[in-house]
Amino acid sequence: MASIHLQPPRRASATANMPGDKSISHRALMLAAVARGLSTVAKLNEGTDVAATLDALALLGVPIEKRDGSLAVTGVDAFDDPAGPIDCRNSGTTMRLLTGLLAGRADAHLDGDVSLRRRPMERVAAPLRAMGADVTTSAGGTPPLEIRRVAGALRGVTAVPAPASAQVKSALLFAGLFADDDTVVIELVPTRDHTERLLSAMGADIASDGPRIRVRRSTLRAFDRLEVPGDFSAAFFFLAAALVRPGASVVIRDLGVNPSRIAAIDVVRAMGGDIRIRDERIAYGEPVATVEGRGGDRLRGVEIPATLVPNLIDEIPALCALGAAADGDLIVKGAADLRNKESDRIATTVALIEAFDGHAEATGDGIVVRGGRALRPPAAVSTGGDHRIGMSAAILAAASGSGLRIDDADCVATSFPGFEAAWNTAFA
Ligand code: S3P
Repeated sequence: MASIHLQPPRRASATANMPGDKSISHRALMLAAVARGLSTVAKLNEGTDVAATLDALALLGVPIEKRDGSLAVTGVDAFDDPAGPIDCRNSGTTMRLLTGLLAGRADAHLDGDVSLRRRPMERVAAPLRAMGADVTTSAGGTPPLEIRRVAGALRGVTAVPAPASAQVKSALLFAGLFADDDTVVIELVPTRDHTERLLSAMGADIASDGPRIRVRRSTLRAFDRLEVPGDFSAAFFFLAAALVRPGASVVIRDLGVNPSRIAAIDVVRAMGGDIRIRDERIAYGEPVATVEGRGGDRLRGVEIPATLVPNLIDEIPALCALGAAADGDLIVKGAADLRNKESDRIATTVALIEAFDGHAEATGDGIVVRGGRALRPPAAVSTGGDHRIGMSAAILAAASGSGLRIDDADCVATSFPGFEAAWNTAFA
């Protein structure tokens, strides 16, 4: 298994390019696959998670071609039944969203790697069954999943996903595109709304009213050329690395700044950090901007309100790394679902901080990071198979002014192929 070698940070001002947003990439491919006509997607995330979605769609008979650095996807009226299993690899988004897209309309067996095989799938299977779909999980409610065609259309239901989840919401809205009656998702806490924005841009009959999102059977229009914005979650590791080094700055252009994704910026500002957003514009319904992070005085820990958790869920390991480099306590509550990510991120985040001689404690539904300690880099850390833990280690290394070897690092390419080169080019 490969290792990543990060060099000590030396450069004061950096610019960095980010991979395409992973969440938007999955949604763009899946919705293009069922739209009328040919859609072109540029700057798609090239990680292995999105590759799992591409391979799955190819197995389902969706024509996809490479054209001048972008992908051309021709929508289909009906899916082929794949001969063998669909391998969703490490990608929860592939498995959950695809289950919604296929529900009732294909015979498919969905499986994944050891990490994905541990993740809860009943949260998506149960509401789809209530819509009339035939979706079975394995014992324990985990993958593999069996999806069977059903006669006639699904019927809309009203669902209240708990915990609030953009993946479950998206799967139900996808299924609702082919269902009779209204499909309504009520969110306990707002989650990322990329699906709603893309569905509106493609002409779906969808409406949001506060926490209530309603979709009806719709024929989607293909999009001419969707340019996927840069991934904010990937960028946050770079922004954080500048924030922990006084006098450092990093500028990232063409970054997605959807308000339902960037609550980590509010937390950083509350910690006394300096992140600036400029040149904001809208591209295919999504806000895109230039974002700059600047290092200054030491940050201070804050309590992250539980209502913000879904809007910074993927940034929590990185925020905890910032907390370890700050003074005072950083407190995360209402985030028990972190235990169900690519790793048990409550445990792996605590272990990572302790590996740098920081101090953190797992709580029932979150993490308390005790700041104010001198961080000392170990000779090497392991990702434990979780890309975001590996990239959070890079922030701790930057805060200690050192380089770092990150082992078991193949997983970093699930979301950020080329991370090592991007990091060393930006900071070394
Ligand atoms: C995602 C939603 C979140 C997030 C994941 C991507 C999405 O998961 O953690 O990385 O693209 O919808 P949940 O919806 O399970 O919280």
